[in-house]
Amino acid sequence: MSDSVASPDLDQIVTAALSAVASAADLAALDAARVAALGKKGTISEAMKVLGTLAPEERKAAGAVINAARDQVVAALDARKIVLEGEALAAKLSAETIDLTLPAPAIAVGRLHPISQTIDEIIEIFGEMGFSLAEGPDIEDDFHNFTALNFPPGHPAREMHDTFYLNPNEAGERPVLRTHTSPVQIRTMMSAKPPIRVIIPGRTFRSDSDQTHTPMFHQVEGLVIDEATHMGHLKGCLIEFVKAFFELDQVPVRFRPSFFPFTEPSAEVDIGCSRKGGELKLGEGDDWLEILGCGMVHPNVIRNCGLDPQVYQGFAFGMGIERIAMLKYGIPDLRTFFDADLRWLGHYGFSAFDIPSLVTGTTGRVAR
Ligand code: PHE
Repeated sequence: MSDSVASPDLDQIVTAALSAVASAADLAALDAARVAALGKKGTISEAMKVLGTLAPEERKAAGAVINAARDQVVAALDARKIVLEGEALAAKLSAETIDLTLPAPAIAVGRLHPISQTIDEIIEIFGEMGFSLAEGPDIEDDFHNFTALNFPPGHPAREMHDTFYLNPNEAGERPVLRTHTSPVQIRTMMSAKPPIRVIIPGRTFRSDSDQTHTPMFHQVEGLVIDEATHMGHLKGCLIEFVKAFFELDQVPVRFRPSFFPFTEPSAEVDIGCSRKGGELKLGEGDDWLEILGCGMVHPNVIRNCGLDPQVYQGFAFGMGIERIAMLKYGIPDLRTFFDADLRWLGHYGFSAFDIPSLVTGTTGRVAR
């Protein structure tokens, strides 16, 4: 081995390279150390170039020495790389650690309005009974809101609804904000063939405003039309609904004769309650509370929809959603529904995870 190659220079180069590797604090610093030793102009690479200047008989031994030096540096680089990669991974993992003992972040701040929840509950209960969902427009014409429902022009029953009229259209007719969801009965019977079983929630409007009335409120309509449905079905269906909705096994239900132009016979439905001590309790006691209107669909209405009342018959009902929501959830004041007060919504609103289901029992039960 000649002096010219096994020089103290090479020892110094190797020592310097190894110490740069050992002190590299991260992968970037390690790469810089690699380039400084093994890169094109690195110290080891430069030492290699000396080989070309040696006599062939010296070259072999000198080459072996330099290669051994190079291998030593490469091995140190590889070993250090593994250590640094391990440290980097550990640092990343500890930065991403989630402390599962901390309280969950309060992300579910939005609440469902009790009207939305109540509508979903009603749809769930009637859906289980085989009803499907139907909807209609808030702005109606006189035909669907009144005439087809057997309110002839000038009929005094039109005065029962304090109607909001819009400006006349090109035909000179004044559209109305629907005063009830019953016009969707007409739309359904004119577009679907019986048997029909629909549940129809929606907004309704009457020019009326006091403690128990708001100009906009919600109703849900039910309609069943086929060739055999009778008043007994109407009673059974509504009694089952009341039990499921109010989650009561027994509740006194009373069908009281009434009048609507579009049903004959007509009834209003009361449920039993007690008002003892100023506290309203459903399902027991000696008092009654009205919750809905219903009846057998009037033959004129069936005829107005192009169906033969000698063949088809059925029942309809309509109820105010705010009213039954107030009863079920103990909400004392109707007007608070529309105040858009977030504190109220925080108190009376529902989590989006409270999905009404008869299967899981979150709207009570229904006999099947
Ligand atoms: N439409 C009626 C109302 O608004 C309720 C009703 C619907 C009554 C269907 C009978 C049948 O008061």
